[in-house]
Amino acid sequence: MTQSSMIHHSPAWQRLAVHADEMRDVHLKSLFTENSGRHARFTRRGVGLTLDLSKHRWRDETLSMLLELAREADLERAIARLQNGERVNLSEDRPALHTALRLPPEASLVVEGEDVVPDVHETLARMQAMVEKCHAGQWRGATGRPITDVVNLGVGGSDLGPLMVTHALADYRPRDVHQVDIHFASTMDGSQLADYLTRFNPATTLFVLSSKSFTTIDTLSNASTARDWLMTRLADGGQDTEMSELVMRQHFIGVSAKPERMSEWGIDPRHQLRFWEWVGGRYSLWGAIGLPIALAVGMDNFRELLAGAHDMDRHFRETPLEDNLPVLLALAGIWNVNFLDVRAHSILPYDGRLEYFASYLEQLEMESNGKSVTNDGEITPYSTCPVLWGQLGPNAQHAFYQLLHQGTQAVECDFIAPVRRYDRVEDPATRAHLKAQHRLTLANCIAQSRVLMLGDEALPSDVPRPSHKRYRGNQPSTTLLLDRLTPRTLGALIALYEHKVFVQATLWDINPFDQWGVELGKQIASETEQILASRRGAEALDDSSRGLLDVVWQAQDGT
Ligand code: F6P
Repeated sequence: MTQSSMIHHSPAWQRLAVHADEMRDVHLKSLFTENSGRHARFTRRGVGLTLDLSKHRWRDETLSMLLELAREADLERAIARLQNGERVNLSEDRPALHTALRLPPEASLVVEGEDVVPDVHETLARMQAMVEKCHAGQWRGATGRPITDVVNLGVGGSDLGPLMVTHALADYRPRDVHQVDIHFASTMDGSQLADYLTRFNPATTLFVLSSKSFTTIDTLSNASTARDWLMTRLADGGQDTEMSELVMRQHFIGVSAKPERMSEWGIDPRHQLRFWEWVGGRYSLWGAIGLPIALAVGMDNFRELLAGAHDMDRHFRETPLEDNLPVLLALAGIWNVNFLDVRAHSILPYDGRLEYFASYLEQLEMESNGKSVTNDGEITPYSTCPVLWGQLGPNAQHAFYQLLHQGTQAVECDFIAPVRRYDRVEDPATRAHLKAQHRLTLANCIAQSRVLMLGDEALPSDVPRPSHKRYRGNQPSTTLLLDRLTPRTLGALIALYEHKVFVQATLWDINPFDQWGVELGKQIASETEQILASRRGAEALDDSSRGLLDVVWQAQDGT
């Protein structure tokens, strides 16, 4: 788009801007008294999910105008282009085909002359063979003992997706197999890894090196520490050639889009899993990067996760915009950010299994849409991705809800909860207790969104309240209910947010599939590390950086 054709000049945007002036002072509670049936009018169901958007500060006509905006941005064509494998990642000139990773085997998707589906399923078959070998107790370390601990070394998309899903689906661990515990080490300072290295047995520990680029210093630093740890303990520090080879073969799996770099590092080609440049890091849990998930829950459950995401892909492509879950979720966000100036967004799952969901979404949303130039390189004259953060809702109630209820910031909230839980707990007494806890949690979820909406009026009283006990309400929120949290509904939930991000990026005319904003920091950090180590070149830096380096050097010198 050129400056004059930018979306904020479009007729629908202009109408929305005028409409927003009327809506800005309308309190949410009054929208509920205007006419009945608001929940039904603003709620949609699909793919095991119920999406209630009635607690947004909008009316029917608002939604009609937003849908018009989506049509003006040619959203339906954009969805088809995404899923057909066109080069939607403009700055890197390639497709963004995470949806291809969850196509069923009988599907076909020809991208630039080649059907990508057979390759996708070949990788899944190779993952399956690895998972089955581990679960049969047949994946043995260099000394012949079966592997018991697998540590994923990766960061960003090579960590957060597998970590989040592995935790969310912990109930789905197969019981009748050789048990393998899955762990994650991501931080470049080695904190998590250092802990594992004191506790795990090198003879029974397998490392999965997950890195699309295979150049990420965080992951490679952890990997080299792990390799030395194994070599020292199992191969006489590398002196024992035969054992060294066995260590490299039996204790490392590599997952990357760069096979030559994996080989150079020493990963045995038989233990390399590949994925493709057209899969973005934060969209990659559906393929080989999902190996830790498959090791935790088994391949059948992993395939169910893919099936749930594929259900959502079809819903996204085939459902009219007015009933389309990702589209509606995205439009609520656009309305808040661009028209009501609500620029903070909190993710609040009411289910401990979704503990890492907010961290996962932080990368998905902010690395994708934290952009300020359009696809044509123009500065966006409108806001894009809000600041997004979150925490388990019940715990956040005892931490930052104070700000949501009485602070000065407008915040959009997503409440997420499963409708049913604990049906499979065998012991009846424990099941009854846990079901009561689930009921309590659901009640809190529904109550909190109600108080955020109504403020004081959730509990009418004739007694005047002092100002420090007043709640103004009017905070918009979405409530997203899963029938149950299963591999299938989780797949659909994640894909829902992936597509929401895409819809928003399409309307904002930005590229959600690149992340150039992380590159400069990496380059400067590498230069700084050289100065820190060599103590040369600091004079070229700014005064603060020089001062901080001095503090470190003085501490190193014991002065
Ligand atoms: O630096 C950001 C980033 O490139 C993310 O986009 C990515 O998920 C993460 O680093 C890890 O990258 P890789 O998988 O290439 O190690």
